[in-house]
Amino acid sequence: MEVLRRVSGGGLLAAVLLLLAAAVSEVSAKRWTVGDNMGWTTNVNYTVWAEGKHFYYDDWLFFVYDRNQMDVLEVNKTNYEACNSENPLKNFTTGAGRDVVHLNVTRPYYFISGKGFCYGGMKLAINVEHLPPPPSSSPLNEKSSAPRSTHIGHTPFVLTAVFAAARALIW
Ligand SMILES: *[C@@H]1O[C@H](CO)[C@@H](O)[C@H](O)[C@H]1NC(C)=O
Ligand SMILES: *[C@@H]1O[C@H](CO)[C@@H](O)[C@H](O)[C@H]1NC(C)=O
Ligand SMILES: *[C@@H]1O[C@H](CO)[C@@H](O)[C@H](O)[C@H]1NC(C)=O
Ligand SMILES: *[C@@H]1O[C@H](CO)[C@@H](O)[C@H](O)[C@H]1NC(C)=O
Repeated sequence: MEVLRRVSGGGLLAAVLLLLAAAVSEVSAKRWTVGDNMGWTTNVNYTVWAEGKHFYYDDWLFFVYDRNQMDVLEVNKTNYEACNSENPLKNFTTGAGRDVVHLNVTRPYYFISGKGFCYGGMKLAINVEHLPPPPSSSPLNEKSSAPRSTHIGHTPFVLTAVFAAARALIW
């Protein structure tokens, strides 16, 4: 009884809001596993992998690779093209073979693996875009083949929560 009374106070509302907030951030950012099941490795063409994908502000890249061999370096365009791994803009290598990159700026990003692997094709160039404006019509009327759920990130809470719940069920 006492628990119920407490929960039904401000606590419940806060809990619901927290859940909704979690749902919103869940659907508005995407984590991309670079190379999908292949990961970050040789014999994958990352230009082909990135083709047709849209990377948006606040998305994440997840590099999965053999920590004893490869690494993850962000370089500029010149060094991307030349496979020059000296003085990278940023070294994302943590040593675990599992590195994440938060795409927190809308601009082109260039990644390579050093240690010679870039020459074999371990290089990835992407352009990070602003989120597209929300569609003028209701997302419910959109083609169900819409590839991502980003569009609903800015729609009212309730709708977003419904979508999140639906996604959770599908997964
Ligand atoms: C990239 O950095 C190198 C120095 O490492 C510099 O010479 C080159 O001009 C830079 N390229 C771009 C496009 O900024
Ligand atoms: C990147 O960081 C890792 C881990 O700190 C380090 O072992 C490696 O030498 C660095 N690579 C470059 C090119 O700076
Ligand atoms: C973006 O994230 C990087 C780390 O990945 C950080 O160094 C940088 O300060 C961040 N930039 C902004 C604008 O938040
Ligand atoms: C990857 O594929 C693109 C487009 O088909 C091609 O232009 C490029 O040369 C390929 N890269 C490698 C390293 O094979």
